[in-house]
Amino acid sequence: NDTEKGASKGSTINKNVKKDDPKVVDTFDIEDITGKKVFCRCWRSKKFPYCDGAHNQHNKETGDNIGPLIIQRQNV
Ligand code: FES
Repeated sequence: NDTEKGASKGSTINKNVKKDDPKVVDTFDIEDITGKKVFCRCWRSKKFPYCDGAHNQHNKETGDNIGPLIIQRQNV
């Protein structure tokens, strides 16, 4: 029965980030971004939501190919 709590749990993506929160959400005002920001998409960064390069180890171990989201201003 899919509606039973926990009956159809899949594997988790998030292993360590704010596990006590019901949902991890990060909000940034675009006006506050100057230069370049590099955001983690692998959920392995110790500086989440920022990338710390941990995706390289994840990719090496798993054969995955994930990397960060980079947001930058053209005219700084
Ligand atoms: Fe997660 Fe770089 S550490 S994308």
